[in-house]
Amino acid sequence: MRHDHLITSKQLSRADIETVLDRAAEIAADPDAVAQRHAGTLLGLLFFEPSTRTKMSFETAMKRLGGDVVDMGSVESSSVTKGETLADTVRVIEGYADALVLRHPKQGAATMACEYVDVPLLNAGDGAGHHPTQTLLDLYTIRENAGLEDLTIGIMGDLKYGRTVHSLSYALANFEARQHFISPESLQLPREVVFDLHQHGGAQIREHESLDEVLGDLDVLYVTRIQRERFPDENEYQTVAGEYQIDAETMVDANDDLTVMHPLPRVDEIAPDLDETDHAAYFEQAHNGVPVRMALLDLFLSGDRNE
Ligand code: NCD
Repeated sequence: MRHDHLITSKQLSRADIETVLDRAAEIAADPDAVAQRHAGTLLGLLFFEPSTRTKMSFETAMKRLGGDVVDMGSVESSSVTKGETLADTVRVIEGYADALVLRHPKQGAATMACEYVDVPLLNAGDGAGHHPTQTLLDLYTIRENAGLEDLTIGIMGDLKYGRTVHSLSYALANFEARQHFISPESLQLPREVVFDLHQHGGAQIREHESLDEVLGDLDVLYVTRIQRERFPDENEYQTVAGEYQIDAETMVDANDDLTVMHPLPRVDEIAPDLDETDHAAYFEQAHNGVPVRMALLDLFLSGDRNE
């Protein structure tokens, strides 16, 4: 991998993705082999938005490689409340850490921040923009469950504000996956993403308003939360809240081996009765965050990315 930072999945080639997934699989098979590989390394965590999985799995990943984290903590307890700019904050924290993980509510924040630092910066979500490390664990989970070759995937829910969807769709174009996007019209994929995907030779995309139109064709169904916090108007959120829910009953019309995924947290998109079925892969998906982020940290911290 020849990248200084990881900002969007657009920058990742198929070969880059395979490098990360193969390394993650090696680590998952023998985590003890890397338990001290990055002893003494410090990872800086800058989370300007809430996070459970992403932050904790990065922390776990760094510690399982023998390193540790320095955490900015909540925005309320940091100097951000005194008016410090993001550029200054990252410049200060790069002096404390060997790599940085940034989550921020503003789209484009990671693109801007990486201009100010020399250590690797990994984007852990920038507003409604991108979330490339999530994409890598999503792809890892797809590869384990359905395979990435000849894949038909449905991506359903909030496609407008869902950054995991934007990142995933670009990455899947590298694998020539058939991508079916299912959402209410008001939450369709941003037109610029559709445009980009059409420009990309490998993308095969179709848009639908109803899951019934495609459910029987799918190998994977990737469900997302309606991103309430990104709606400019609560009334607008209320008009789409509660749409596109699935449960165990929905699976009657699906392939027996359909894999259901969700980046989590879920609100009410997937009923708990689906958790006990063989379709549910979302907890496994969350667990895969650790080996995949270990692989990413290892690649970015070892300098192997330039090999
Ligand atoms: C996602 C995010 O933050 O974009 N969560 C995550 O990282 N697993 C999805 C979401 O918040 O809905």
